[in-house]
Amino acid sequence: MKNIVLFGFMGTGKSSIGKILAERLDMSFLEMDEIIEKENKMTISDIFEKYGEAYFRELEKDLIERISKNNSCVISTGGGVVLNEENVELLQKNGILISLMAKEEVIYKRVKNETHRPLLKTKNGLQKIREILNHRRPFYEKAGFCIDTSNMSKNEVVEKIIEYAERQIYENSKGIFRR
Ligand code: S3P
Repeated sequence: MKNIVLFGFMGTGKSSIGKILAERLDMSFLEMDEIIEKENKMTISDIFEKYGEAYFRELEKDLIERISKNNSCVISTGGGVVLNEENVELLQKNGILISLMAKEEVIYKRVKNETHRPLLKTKNGLQKIREILNHRRPFYEKAGFCIDTSNMSKNEVVEKIIEYAERQIYENSKGIFRR
């Protein structure tokens, strides 16, 4: 089966929802930031600090080149993966792409007490979220399915994702006998 790929801004629930989804569907779960941290034996914050964002984006791209070859995985991507078109193309080849969205204020509430996101280490967090999200929204919207998670429980989001993925698999299988 194809991978299910979760895109979305920081704090939209990609990791927690991805984990539940993978368990429900008995698929493997890949969390990109976690893999990058393990492979480099460094936190994402330290990678940004020591080598800069451009270097981190290279690590992301290299990881996508490898994991996009997998099957039957739920992949939770880092929030900035969508900015590189090649990343999206690679993941799309064998993946169902879904973006988790949330209102700016909701994202702010979810992330304001966290310290591990280098891009949000700033005084005016809400303003920063607005700026980045405004720039990125069109990229997230390129996914086949976007879900606003602001007022939904994790299980509700998981159900919506499963419904969408089932529909995709059904639609894609319809042509098999007609070729
Ligand atoms: C980033 C999001 C983070 C992490 C890095 C950069 C981004 O991942 O990859 O801090 O550019 O939005 P999460 O979306 O999992 O927080």
